[in-house]
Amino acid sequence: ALDRAMRPRSLADYIGQPRVREQMEIFIGAARARDEALDHTLIFGPPGLGKTTLAHILAQEMGVNLRQTSGPVLEKPGDLAALLTNLDAGDLLFVDEIHRLSPVVEEVLYPAMEDFQLDIMIGDGPAARSIKLDLPAFTLVGATTRAGLLTSPLRDRFGIVQRLEYYSAADLAVILRRSAGILAVESDAEGLGEIARRARGTPRIANRLLRRVRDYAQMKADGRINRAVADRALGMLQVDQQGFDHMDRRLLSAVIEKFAGGPVGVESLAAAIGEERGTIEDVLEPYLIQQGYLMRTPKGRVATLLAYQHLGLSGAQVAGAMA
Ligand code: ADE
Repeated sequence: ALDRAMRPRSLADYIGQPRVREQMEIFIGAARARDEALDHTLIFGPPGLGKTTLAHILAQEMGVNLRQTSGPVLEKPGDLAALLTNLDAGDLLFVDEIHRLSPVVEEVLYPAMEDFQLDIMIGDGPAARSIKLDLPAFTLVGATTRAGLLTSPLRDRFGIVQRLEYYSAADLAVILRRSAGILAVESDAEGLGEIARRARGTPRIANRLLRRVRDYAQMKADGRINRAVADRALGMLQVDQQGFDHMDRRLLSAVIEKFAGGPVGVESLAAAIGEERGTIEDVLEPYLIQQGYLMRTPKGRVATLLAYQHLGLSGAQVAGAMA
């Protein structure tokens, strides 16, 4: 419930992502002035950056209903047909994890997106019939961690494509100030700044850390969050000075210690740290790459000098590894 309360409801309350906000304000304003549905929109980016939040805001700003589903939930063409035939004109259908749609469901989506036509087979064998239905104009909003996971015919049918970026510590601090208000926890700018700096550029992580630091402040201090309390709490949570957690460090140290710094293929890395390939690709490595601790090369993942230094390896070890 608090998660819900922490989510912004309008573009004006949405912090960061200035390019996305500026563009969407224009596309929404223009569609509304023409009394049309917003064009189909693909939102991609790492988990926790606000893809679902943004979809809800788009519906809110368009003044339409949002229906929500996800790729794996739509098992059969009929599951999608049931949703599409229940939309009102202009409604927004949000499909999370849209890269996980089955090929047969995806086939139904193409004419629905392009011509607002539903074209499905019902029954099978000799009794099978094809039915065609007109659908109301609607907006499909798809979310995925990486745009490259979509088939190109699906990707091509989105008129608007938005990539969410990691947030700056300054933007996360603004988000945390608002969240601290909602949680009614006393905090100062340095305390929230420390959480913001160590939240991997991700609002979901920042808000989660805020709740844990609040617990810590309540039990181990006077309930107020300042820098010292935040630092002790984050230390207890094993979130280090760069905001890396246990799994981040485990990945970096595996590349360095088990694979001599790389290059190592993602499958070997997954086996070595006991994590799923998808989690490495979608959750762990994008931030490590963006921060310059890991590189993705044609031959595999390679640890950078920053990674060696971060793990406290000596100059001699670094020199040896880099030679
Ligand atoms: N909470 C999560 N993401 C947010 C954002 N971009 N702006 C404000 N609050 C948020």
